[in-house]
Amino acid sequence: MVLPPEVEERFARVEREYAARERLSAYGLRPRKRVLLHGPPGCGKSLGAKRLAWNTTLPLMKVKFDALLSSYFGESASNLRTVFEAAKERPCVLLLDECDFIARSRSTDRDVGEAARVVNALLQFLDEYDAPGILVATTNVEESLDEAIFRRFDDVFKVPLPGDREIEQLFRTTLSAVKISGQIDWATVIGSLKGLSAAYTVKAAQDAAKAAVLVGRKTVEEEDVRLAIDEIRRGKSL
Ligand SMILES: Nc1ncnc2c1ncn2[C@@H]1O[C@H](COP(=O)(O)OP(=O)(O)OP(=O)(O)O)[C@@H](O)[C@H]1O
Ligand SMILES: [Mg+2]
Repeated sequence: MVLPPEVEERFARVEREYAARERLSAYGLRPRKRVLLHGPPGCGKSLGAKRLAWNTTLPLMKVKFDALLSSYFGESASNLRTVFEAAKERPCVLLLDECDFIARSRSTDRDVGEAARVVNALLQFLDEYDAPGILVATTNVEESLDEAIFRRFDDVFKVPLPGDREIEQLFRTTLSAVKISGQIDWATVIGSLKGLSAAYTVKAAQDAAKAAVLVGRKTVEEEDVRLAIDEIRRGKSL
């Protein structure tokens, strides 16, 4: 993954604490086990959960929150319970992906609907969470995350849009299997990808490489890169 150093360090700390969990527990300390990742789409929240699984050698158990919520009326809370119980039985990285509504639902205090019920169940399960693995929740919504949600996580951090350094690094990493022309003006490339997600940057690099490979060229030229970025920018503005 390509991340700004301070975000990389946040992920790495979760991994280090997990690796040292027994040493920590000898001092009555608990590793960070409940992590909330927030930030714009396509910048590595879901990928970050996979990375935590990979680096801790825990299997990944992914729950799509919206799917859970739309399960039969009245059953989402008990489905959630089943998920948490499974995570207790079998150490894993439990990924509660795209649980955007945790941010919204509590605002409607008197709402007795399904969403409010699930949020309340989730808050309770988070409180009681003592599974051997790591729980990772992700959301795009950040402005309205309330105190009750924040408090129940051991770590909350943002996975932000890539900065200049990360854009170039994403590009180079994606293109590591092909040759890149020495003529590329990186300042221009970075400038034209600014504000786009890591996912779009990866896509631009792949598109540029594919265009070169398809015409039988061995090197990705500046023109390939420019066309790929233009196409993505145009697509975004549609
Ligand atoms: N930081 C990153 N480093 C390398 N590749 C990345 C990074 N972020 C995103 N990508 C690429 O973009 C794809 C989508 O990223 P991911 O699914 O993690 O986004 P997300 O933050 O979960 O977005 P959403 O909010 O839409 O679910 C990844 O599979 C990967 O190819
Ligand atoms: Mg995601």
